Amino acid sequence: MLLSFSPFLQNPLSPPSPKNPNPGPRPPNSHQILHLSTNGDEPTYQTERGLRFETEGAFFRHESATGRDLGVLSASLYRRSRQQLRVLDAMCGCGVRSLRYLAEAGADFVVANDANDYHRRVILSNLKSVDRGCGESKRWVVTHFDANRILSECYLNSDFYDLIDVDSFGSDSSFLRTVFNAIKRGGLLYLTSTDGYSSGGHRPYNTLAAYGAFIRPMPYSNEVGLRMVIGGAVREASAQGYHVTPLFSYYSYHGPVFRVMLTVNRGTLPENKDYGFISYCNQCGNSQSYSWEELGQISCPCSNTIGSRSLVVSGPLWIGPLHDATHLTEMLNLAEQWGWVGNDTGTDLEKLLLQMLDESDPRLPSGYIKLDEVASRAKINSPPLKVMMSAMHKEGYAASRSHIASNAIKTNCPMMDCIRIAKELQGC
Ligand SMILES: C[S@@+](CC[C@H](N)C(=O)[O-])C[C@H]1O[C@@H](n2cnc3c(N)ncnc32)[C@H](O)[C@@H]1O
Ligand SMILES: [Zn+2]
Repeated sequence: MLLSFSPFLQNPLSPPSPKNPNPGPRPPNSHQILHLSTNGDEPTYQTERGLRFETEGAFFRHESATGRDLGVLSASLYRRSRQQLRVLDAMCGCGVRSLRYLAEAGADFVVANDANDYHRRVILSNLKSVDRGCGESKRWVVTHFDANRILSECYLNSDFYDLIDVDSFGSDSSFLRTVFNAIKRGGLLYLTSTDGYSSGGHRPYNTLAAYGAFIRPMPYSNEVGLRMVIGGAVREASAQGYHVTPLFSYYSYHGPVFRVMLTVNRGTLPENKDYGFISYCNQCGNSQSYSWEELGQISCPCSNTIGSRSLVVSGPLWIGPLHDATHLTEMLNLAEQWGWVGNDTGTDLEKLLLQMLDESDPRLPSGYIKLDEVASRAKINSPPLKVMMSAMHKEGYAASRSHIASNAIKTNCPMMDCIRIAKELQGC
């Protein structure tokens, strides 16, 4: 069946506006946003980074602002390096992301799509503060297609995007089949999952269907959730001749929400060890990663019995680095230029980006060790996190905080040595 053709999908790349050929170092602020009055009859407005918008009836979470900040930073860096940015915001809700990609990241063109056309008025109202332009210079359009349909139409019309943002609910991954054909080579894919129950290992057949990974309960299940989403994208991308790697991975307990920003390039499944399996031993608390070749040799040093009953194994999933340190450094610098971090503001965003940067140490394996678990296994009180980390560093181990769990350490120090170090610190 021939899909009906949407004229906007043919809209060629809009060149940067002659009035604004190269968006400045700071995102445009309130001077580009309409000042709407708010009296009793009018909708109430939200504000995010100085941008005002309404949310009436549409799904909107203030807590997701950090996820939007991160997306805008990556998008803006892309715009600066590639001199172009066409965005498909496939599940835009009230359109706040589309607005931010336009106003802050300097997007040349944004499709704000949401299947629910009930949101049309609110999306249009939110975007109208950015001049819509026309013809070749059109900056944005609002559509109401199912995400898979719009992605397929983009492919059929050779209408490709630099950034595709799919802010979906639950563990919906159906669009992974269509999204890679609508994205430009080297483009960005921003994915979301909100299914903490599945990533917690409580529905392994659900995760197998959605992301091709059999997920079991593990103490660092929220990191597993991120790795599961990346792994699912790796798998689907490779089936279509693409290769994806994460620029950043962000877990937020509101929801919970798992967000990953991926770069998409031509290529196939990585032959290295980035896509494999993770085991956790319930007996001794040790975790290990395995490549596909090592599948028949899964064992734990505590028993050395292959296939020990105390082991739980999850996978296949992404077992490489969660972030790209160079990209995170650029994000941090840009956030500083924009006044989002720095000047001793001690913002949550700054703390988050710095923690992510620490987590990017390539020596760090998957997962993290909770200090409560160390303390309980050692039968001592939990040592302070900083003291524990510095003792690990002294012994030559890599150790960083985790942005996911506050009282946990990402480290290549095996659990047995963590217990020993903790005991020594307590004079035991
Ligand atoms: C999590 S909300 C989006 C929130 C928005 N991105 C933000 O940052 O505020 C998900 C949106 O996806 C829309 N949606 C759900 N399924 C869809 C589908 N298959 N195709 C397109 N939109 C869909 C819903 O109507 C909802 O507005
Ligand atoms: Zn063990």
